[in-house]
Amino acid sequence: MKITVIGHGYVGLVTAAVFADLGNSVYVVGRTAEKIENLNKGIIPIYEPGLEELVKQGLSAKRLHFSLEYDPYVSESDIVFIAVGTPPKSSGEADLSTVLEVAKKIGTHLNGYTVVATKSTVPVGSNKMIARILAENKDSKAKFDTASVPEFLREGSAIHDTLNPDRIVIGTKSQRAQDLLITLHKPINSRFVLCNLETAEMIKYAANSFLATKISFANAIAKLSEKVSADALSVLEGIGYDKRIGNEFLLPGAGYGGSCFPKDVKALIAISKQHGYDFALLSEVENINKEARHDIVKKAVKMLGEVQGKKIGILGLAFKPNTDDMRNAPSIDIIASLSKMGATIKVYDPQGAENAKKIIQGATFCKDSYEVAENADLLIILTEWNEFKEINLAKIKEKMREPKILDGRNIYDPEEIKELGFVYQGVGRA
Ligand code: UGA
Repeated sequence: MKITVIGHGYVGLVTAAVFADLGNSVYVVGRTAEKIENLNKGIIPIYEPGLEELVKQGLSAKRLHFSLEYDPYVSESDIVFIAVGTPPKSSGEADLSTVLEVAKKIGTHLNGYTVVATKSTVPVGSNKMIARILAENKDSKAKFDTASVPEFLREGSAIHDTLNPDRIVIGTKSQRAQDLLITLHKPINSRFVLCNLETAEMIKYAANSFLATKISFANAIAKLSEKVSADALSVLEGIGYDKRIGNEFLLPGAGYGGSCFPKDVKALIAISKQHGYDFALLSEVENINKEARHDIVKKAVKMLGEVQGKKIGILGLAFKPNTDDMRNAPSIDIIASLSKMGATIKVYDPQGAENAKKIIQGATFCKDSYEVAENADLLIILTEWNEFKEINLAKIKEKMREPKILDGRNIYDPEEIKELGFVYQGVGRA
């Protein structure tokens, strides 16, 4: 098939690279000349394991192309995917301006029959709006149908998730569009959830909000576990084996970050409000998440006594491992609070440093964990990179002024680390 993908962020680029790998001709349209030039050379703007190789394969097979122009790709395509960003406005609602602008441009280039499918996360009703814009801007002979095909990939495991999804959701009222999208996705062995546009739009928000709720539940259980001398990890393991609950996304820690959960929880609260429903459960999910970050700061204060003048080392800045993405990373708020209290901060992240330098001020960026540990009074783990699980803790202890570890992602065994002579504090561990 001939496909155009508008946007080359995580969703757009991964979708394009995977569909090219599956044998389709894929055109990716962007709006930044430098990025498009780089992409055509196989240089990708994000860190995502395996993606650069897949893009390079697509380029050398001549199945993947990057361009600034809609012309002639959109008019020749069977399916056009909209995969541009929908950042939150100050009210929490998703900002649809780029999606609507893109829809207008697609409309003017439609020719023959085309399916216009949205992968961007958009509020319920947006695809109807997109259909209206397409209809207003298209040539009278051009025919199209719209569909909502939400994306469930995670950063850091994006290619694996795209090739092995738990389900593929296709929301459309058109049988022809549904058939075409099923044919495109057939090589990906998964079950289909076939529904109308509004249902598909809701599934995306409900999925992310439910996962965020699980994480906040885990953080609430962690908080209570500390008070009653229970071990939250065992409590959550104990409930997770119940298939009705499931053990994924039940890890307590510094809370959820990234570009999706914070934005989509906020957006679902806003959508609910617009429809006269107060989704108080989700407001509490947000509160617990904020508290999870704040609790790391409180624990640091308790472990240090006086923060003023102390040296704190931070291991991990990105919002999760295997990404360089700093959007809404818990590290940002935690470092800001500790700096404000007068601590000197040294930081290290295996991939996130370049992006972090644009956001985090006043911290010293180090080349590795050992440099961070040098003369530190406290080490705080904020991202569970494998590298940190494997560091030489004896060497770390030698370098530190005070051997204290605050493990915001519970990557170490409390008993083992105490045996090494560290003062240790995790999240939810008795
Ligand atoms: C999330 C969803 O998992 C994807 O299904 C979805 O497609 C994506 O958002 C999106 O809407 O685009 P992502 O934000 O890449 O994916 O990363 P996650 O692995 O979901 O992690 C999100 C945050 O939750 C991270 O900060 C992570 O540290 C935190 N988390 C995750 C926990 O604190 N505990 C857990 O048990 C799991």
